[in-house]
Amino acid sequence: MTSLRGRRVLIVGGGSGIGREIASRAVADGADVVIAGRHPEKVEVSAGIRAIALDLTDESSIERAAADLGAIDAIVALAADHANGPLVTLDVDRVRRALDAKVVGPILLAKHFAPTMPEDGAIVLFSGVAASRPSRDLVVMATGNRAAEGLADALAVELAPIRVVAVSPGIIDSGAWDTMGAEQKSRFFASTAAANPARRIGSPQDVTDVVMLALTNPFLTATTIHIDGGGRLA
Ligand SMILES: NC(=O)c1ccc[n+]([C@@H]2O[C@H](COP(=O)([O-])OP(=O)(O)OC[C@H]3O[C@@H](n4cnc5c(N)ncnc54)[C@H](OP(=O)(O)O)[C@@H]3O)[C@@H](O)[C@H]2O)c1
Repeated sequence: MTSLRGRRVLIVGGGSGIGREIASRAVADGADVVIAGRHPEKVEVSAGIRAIALDLTDESSIERAAADLGAIDAIVALAADHANGPLVTLDVDRVRRALDAKVVGPILLAKHFAPTMPEDGAIVLFSGVAASRPSRDLVVMATGNRAAEGLADALAVELAPIRVVAVSPGIIDSGAWDTMGAEQKSRFFASTAAANPARRIGSPQDVTDVVMLALTNPFLTATTIHIDGGGRLA
């Protein structure tokens, strides 16, 4: 697949943030997009985009989606369900949900969708800068992201010639940080930008550029692309 024109793209976790931007770009490039998540009723649909229910913690919902949708050319799996905080405060169900969103769910997506994907199909998984640079209170995030990178390599071998690539963003102004409140978010963004080599925060467009490359470059597989402003070295 060297272009998304006329292709069917499934974006799991595409109802918000970076995923929403990927959905818009894919439609602009001629794809037919399905956004999947736990709350399809909240997804803003428009021409070329529809929303379906799929919960990565529930294999039957993945199996049902695969049966309903039929063959899909490309999958972008970027769901995240965070379980951050000091180890002693971690609730095991939250930990499992977080690892389901990043690792177990994507394994099940591959199990149910890959059998009907074309040979030139592509899967993009999502890691994040915490995989390369763990910090305190992010044990689950660091582990899930690192596992997503390993999973991309393993699936690339298992599903070849279907390509599988992991994308690892740094800090992105995707809306996910808005819960911090404006003041705290702006302090966090300023200190992050001051410390990374790019001296800025990333945008959903920055990450989308890389996802488009991962979906359409036929020689790109079994690797992780870092789009983090060098933040993993900061
Ligand atoms: N933003 C950053 O600074 C940053 C940094 C490093 C890495 N990343 C990675 O980039 C990706 C996108 O980030 P973002 O900021 O755009 O995230 P986001 O806006 O929080 O989106 C996460 C999405 O995951 C979906 N989701 C969560 N649990 C799910 C489940 N069990 N089944 C299906 N969908 C589920 C949510 O949709 P529903 O609630 O509707 O299900 C939501 O749309 C994530 O993988 C994140 O870890 C982001």
